[in-house]
Amino acid sequence: MLKNDRFLKALLKQPVDKTPVWMMRQAGRYLPEYRETRKKAGGFMDLCMNKELACEVTMQPLERYELDAAILFSDILTIPDAMGLGLYFSTGEGPKFNKPIQNANDVERLAVPDPYDKLAYVMDAVSLIRQELNDRVPLIGFSGSPWTLATYMVEGGSTKEFGKVKGMMYDSPEIMHKLLDTLAKSVIQYLNAQIESGAQAVMVFDTWGGVLTPRDYKDFSLRYLQQIVDGINRTKDGEQIPVVLFSKGAGQWLDLMAETGCDALGVDWTVDLSQARKLVNDKVALQGNMDPCILYASDERVEAEVKNVLASYGKVGNGGHVFNLGHGIHQHIDPSRVKTFIDAVHDHSTQYHN
Ligand code: CP3
Repeated sequence: MLKNDRFLKALLKQPVDKTPVWMMRQAGRYLPEYRETRKKAGGFMDLCMNKELACEVTMQPLERYELDAAILFSDILTIPDAMGLGLYFSTGEGPKFNKPIQNANDVERLAVPDPYDKLAYVMDAVSLIRQELNDRVPLIGFSGSPWTLATYMVEGGSTKEFGKVKGMMYDSPEIMHKLLDTLAKSVIQYLNAQIESGAQAVMVFDTWGGVLTPRDYKDFSLRYLQQIVDGINRTKDGEQIPVVLFSKGAGQWLDLMAETGCDALGVDWTVDLSQARKLVNDKVALQGNMDPCILYASDERVEAEVKNVLASYGKVGNGGHVFNLGHGIHQHIDPSRVKTFIDAVHDHSTQYHN
């Protein structure tokens, strides 16, 4: 039995005493103990592939803060790496691939990776983290969305322009669809394996969904998110496994996303939560959406902003609100500011729950 199930309950729109809170990238470079463990591991991917160290860093933010969920320490680019693209991280430049996807042949050659083979290190980390958590809080598993994975695979790394990937999408939509379909099948198997190994909720990160036109979003991102929602095992041992979709920059079409049948939507800070709530009409719970940059401001300002975000969601009633940042925490944030933030969510949210 979970000792703290606020997070799962809020995602399923069930009553809770306080608004649950966690942070995207909560185990990361803003924590000195993370930087220490990462040094011990060698590189970032070495850290992901070592289950003991991945478990250690997953637990680090929970030792400091009253977080209501843990998230698997890994990366979204594990799938393309397992497909043989040769992932590496070069300092200051982010992720890169040795063998990016350039043409139809490259797409044809891609196979859906067996999650218990090339990605077994992820499943081993999930099992070990569950053991270590000992039912203190639930564990979130995750994956990238097909569209977001495709952007990195075709561009060969991070991009601001999306020229190669959109070029392929506009010129050869059938090749892009083949790539996205292979990725969707891979994501389904990967997330189901994480659930089988112990993940109690799953989140799909569609970081680059918002760079698409509304029409292309439906065709090239949402369609595959739908495939994933339909393919995920939504219960395990009689417990429901909530599914959260997060397309960054997708505030205009949250209603379409809610129609997939997912349980919750992540929202970034460019959206007003009360408007987002109207758009989805409480069909799904919402997760978000404080601007990560607020954590550069004073404790007083952080606390005021927490109150603003809670008030914008309003009385929870038949809805569900999980507090989060609108995107990952930045590496230069002072860890003591994070304590102010997390405590403020719990201290000021009781009035929004009956
Ligand atoms: O949230 C968590 O605490 C769980 C861990 C997590 C990481 N990456 C750890 C990480 C999660 C959920 C991700 C997802 C991820 N990875 C996304 C989607 C979410 C998002 O942030 O938009 C994306 C686009 C990636 C790809 C990726 N991995 C990028 C762009 C980078 C940053 C590279 C850089 O140097 O800034 C990474 C590396 C990464 N993933 C780090 C962490 C803690 C930093 C690596 C380090 O320790 O040097």
